[in-house]
Amino acid sequence: MQDGSQTRRDQTESAAPTGAAPDELRAVMANFATGVAVVTTRDTDGTPYGVTVNSFNSVSLDPPLVLWSLGLDAFSYPVFHRAAGFAVNLLADDQQDICRLFASRQERRFDRVAWQAGPLGLPLLDGAVARFSCVFWARYPGGDHEIMVGRVISCTRGPGRPLLYSQGRFGSAAPG
Ligand SMILES: Cc1cc2nc3c(=O)[nH]c(=O)nc-3n(C[C@H](O)[C@H](O)[C@H](O)COP(=O)(O)O)c2cc1C
Repeated sequence: MQDGSQTRRDQTESAAPTGAAPDELRAVMANFATGVAVVTTRDTDGTPYGVTVNSFNSVSLDPPLVLWSLGLDAFSYPVFHRAAGFAVNLLADDQQDICRLFASRQERRFDRVAWQAGPLGLPLLDGAVARFSCVFWARYPGGDHEIMVGRVISCTRGPGRPLLYSQGRFGSAAPG
């Protein structure tokens, strides 16, 4: 026989180890509005790779560090895992097509965008509102993702307004 407190304790204990369900967490996290970035690198043979992310953020000013996270099941994960560095391109509000391209299964993505090699030789996309060239500083396990931390070697701003992403929709950071 169970009394009420036993039932509550059982519910608490059974809920604690599992935590929020993936779909629930994704739906709730969608309320965190972010910018959108394409993170790029090159494989050992020089082939460029890039992936759309919204997990980018600043970490530290001194030393200058930024982070983002990449799914372990991403096609490009082994390439980023062995790379010496990465570049972050913050997309402008007229670059939704580039956001979708680098979130797709499309091959030869860099044939479809204008880009230049930056100071570390890593792809920097034309038209991005900000671009960072980084060397890897640390990688941390993060469940089904890996947390990538980079030391910013150089960063530049461009014209245009940042692309925003919230609740599965795109928007623009109109001037206030
Ligand atoms: C707006 C947006 C944000 C995304 N953010 C991330 C992210 O932070 N980390 C991640 O691993 N995938 C993220 N994705 C999914 C990847 O872009 C997608 O899985 C991509 O196909 C991975 O490329 P790859 O498998 O060719 O490496 C995001 C997709 C979109 C549309």
